[in-house]
Amino acid sequence: MNFTRADFPDGFRFGVATSAYQIEGHGQGGAGLTHWDSFAATPGNVARAENGARACDHYNRLDEDLDLIRDLGADVYRFSTSWARVMPDGTGAANPEGLDFYDRLVDGLLARGIAPAVTLYHWELPQALADRGGWRNADMPNWFADYTETIMARIGDRTWSAAPINEPWCVGWLSHFDGHHAPGLRDIRATARAMHHVLLSHGRAIQVCKGLGVQNLGAVCNFEWATAASDAPEDVAASERYDAIYNRFFLGGLFRGEYPAEVLDGLEPHLPQGWQDDFTTIQSPLDWVGVNYYTRKRIAHVDGPWPNYAEAPTQGPLTDMEWEIHPDGLRDFLTRTAREYTGDLPIYVTENGMASATTPDPDRIDFLDRHLRAVQQALADGAPVHGYFVWSLMDNYEWALGYDKRFGLIHVDFDTLARTPKASYHALAKWWRG
Ligand code: FCB
Repeated sequence: MNFTRADFPDGFRFGVATSAYQIEGHGQGGAGLTHWDSFAATPGNVARAENGARACDHYNRLDEDLDLIRDLGADVYRFSTSWARVMPDGTGAANPEGLDFYDRLVDGLLARGIAPAVTLYHWELPQALADRGGWRNADMPNWFADYTETIMARIGDRTWSAAPINEPWCVGWLSHFDGHHAPGLRDIRATARAMHHVLLSHGRAIQVCKGLGVQNLGAVCNFEWATAASDAPEDVAASERYDAIYNRFFLGGLFRGEYPAEVLDGLEPHLPQGWQDDFTTIQSPLDWVGVNYYTRKRIAHVDGPWPNYAEAPTQGPLTDMEWEIHPDGLRDFLTRTAREYTGDLPIYVTENGMASATTPDPDRIDFLDRHLRAVQQALADGAPVHGYFVWSLMDNYEWALGYDKRFGLIHVDFDTLARTPKASYHALAKWWRG
């Protein structure tokens, strides 16, 4: 990697990202049960039925991990707070130990000169709320607003940035239509409600943060580039539908106050009553937008019910997730997002990285190098990109795929929990430390 900080604009921030359930060790510190615990306990949902009860034991190794972020030279650490750690039952009483933990995390970052970028929901919904229908329930925005108030009243005076919900597509579609993530539903009506309630909850949380005086508020979406599997018009239409559901639905809601027609074709009959009236809240003004980017899919038409698409076989080099390596998609999302939705609003690449079990990890260095060049191209094309955060600081619990998909710049031995920085960590540290 032959970059220096001078190769990026002044003030461009580099960082690393993690999330609570993937690293903390959810079994500790009085956190409540989450829908990921019950999803993982159901045979067939998660590789080897692994869960986040111990994970990287970050909860007990906070200082060691924060030292590793400092030694990497990261400007920003993007982490998430666990709703069930803060409020074990989802509503009502807070867990003082949980609040203390995030307090120490934020103070520990500031003491090391690292900017804390918090995400309030990275998927571990308290089980008590899942029992009440979770994201399908129209009360979710109220519950989420209360949780936001509880956690941000404690740490929001010292965070550098805040985003309510990580990757609304995963919360809505992947978890309620594809059934791949908790709660593992495959139900179009649940999907429609979840997708809308996620955006409405986002908006409510932004309003709560504003009321508390929290600075630098954003939204973090994940995008997957869609390429038609052939020039046939029905494949082209299928790939546009995929793009609408995956990418444009959330950008449309957040920045235009509308949902794409291709999505309404399938979901409109199932949206909650009065959904059209919620866009004022959903569109609460933001200070930045975050782009999580990993791959692209080739999409083909299939007959049958909406949405009439399927993934065509992948091409080219793949990561351990079997995701195609396609850096141009990152460039294209950065430029398209600015051009079509967000204009001058600062964009951050809030996640990018690869799963690879190789150590040393020249493949990861190459992946990051190529995607950083894509960021430079987007900058040259005028996209206002202000930062780039690698997923992930360390190997962790990769959801339904368990612990053997390794995204970390730091190797974690899941028996001893020893942390060992990989070659990619050293390559980044060389120029990030300046
Ligand atoms: C993203 C998630 C993150 C991690 C990476 C690989 O979709 O935000 O938790 O699983 O993918």
